Amino acid sequence: MKEVSTARTSTGFKELNRVLGGGLVEGSFVLLGGDPGIGKSTLLLQMAGGLAKEDRTVLYVSGEESVNQSALRAQRLGVNSGKVHMAAESNLEVIRELAHEIKPDVMIVDSIQTVFLPEIASAPGSVSQVRECAAQLMGLAKGNGVTVFLIGHVTKEGNIAGPKVLEHMVDTVLSFEGDQSHQFRLLRALKNRFGATHELGVFQMDTRGLQEVDNPSELFLEERGERLIGSAVFCSVEGTRPLLCEIQALTNFTPMPQPRRTSLGFDVNRVHLLVAVLNKHLGLRLANADVFINVVGGLRLIEPAADLAVAAALLSTETEREIEAKTCFFGEIGLTGEVRAVSMVEGRLREAQKLGFTTFVIPASNRKHLNDLDAETKKKIFWVKDVHDLTKLFGTDGRRVKGKTAAAAASREAKVAEQERQKAAAHSGRQAGASRPGVDTDDLGF
Ligand SMILES: Nc1ncnc2c1ncn2[C@@H]1O[C@H](COP(=O)(O)OP(=O)(O)OP(=O)(O)O)[C@@H](O)[C@H]1O
Ligand SMILES: [Mg+2]
Repeated sequence: MKEVSTARTSTGFKELNRVLGGGLVEGSFVLLGGDPGIGKSTLLLQMAGGLAKEDRTVLYVSGEESVNQSALRAQRLGVNSGKVHMAAESNLEVIRELAHEIKPDVMIVDSIQTVFLPEIASAPGSVSQVRECAAQLMGLAKGNGVTVFLIGHVTKEGNIAGPKVLEHMVDTVLSFEGDQSHQFRLLRALKNRFGATHELGVFQMDTRGLQEVDNPSELFLEERGERLIGSAVFCSVEGTRPLLCEIQALTNFTPMPQPRRTSLGFDVNRVHLLVAVLNKHLGLRLANADVFINVVGGLRLIEPAADLAVAAALLSTETEREIEAKTCFFGEIGLTGEVRAVSMVEGRLREAQKLGFTTFVIPASNRKHLNDLDAETKKKIFWVKDVHDLTKLFGTDGRRVKGKTAAAAASREAKVAEQERQKAAAHSGRQAGASRPGVDTDDLGF
């Protein structure tokens, strides 16, 4: 086997480089998926501009927009290098000829659902077209050393449209996510043959296109209010990067027999689990309460390490006690109420300290691995063994929290009882009303 160089090309975006595992690998085959209008074309066009600055030739083929439209966008984004070639074409045979003619280092196909091979009878975007076109483009990538980027549409469920085989074929699957209502966008690697997955790149969309966000933690905590009841900060680790975010909780009385458990950005099953644990171990009664959890900024948390922050936010809203603003939580909660160790504690502590956090609530079981911490940081740590320790944070022992929540639960139960009573009264009223016309019950011998 001959030795091959593993040099990577910078895309001009630190965030994109990191998600790709340190830059572009020559001859790699990358699929970028994302919701309509999220900014896929913008991202790759800006990348084309960045690559042109690195003296790479880029061919951008759009089957969705005319050359004029693409050129207009390029102008707006400040991509005006002669090294970026634009084409509006969807016939793959023509695209291949173009590639042979221009010999680009990087080729972008926007999107795989619009290209077609004339010899296949089915419509563009159909399973057979997508599979065949992708196979031919892979040949171009692997055979000619051209790095090929495909843009893929996603289905309503959020999967990349077309055959699953597409995801197996490519080296890297990137997903561009975000909320249309927020201006920031998250780029993730779902699969990467040349780097770690679950790396996260953060961008912000403005009129000049996508801008990199150097310090996303600041962005996610930007709108944090003064009133901090029901709000806890969690330090997550996305890939290799710690990221601070705010978790909010709200509990609210409901007369419904099945209260709602709604969670945005955090697994709802874990909400059920945490509610059960807090009920069993701290007497937090939420049987008559809707529970809402929200991870601010459209982030999606997958780490169980977020448990402690969710539990703290729940306790805070239920007891109506504020959490000190500069407190950061992380730890996984088990069914017996224990707080379990998490990984990358130093990284999380460093990130939180950088943003001026002064109290860290973290699992006691992480203590033995943290001998190297400086004394100053150690002083700021509040070690928690189980959920009982968490209640101490609210300036009380476990019982007082219990007392407060019991009072909240009792008032909810009283409301339920009152509603039941009113319902019963209305019901009997209706019955009485129904039997009234013309009937004298006495006459019937009752
Ligand atoms: N003139 C403009 N000024 C500011 N922002 C714009 C402008 N034109 C487009 N945008 C932003 O760019 C976004 C569209 O980006 P883009 O076309 O790259 O998305 P896409 O993911 O490629 O969408 P599609 O799936 O439709 O191809 C819009 O939602 C808007 O936020
Ligand atoms: Mg597009």
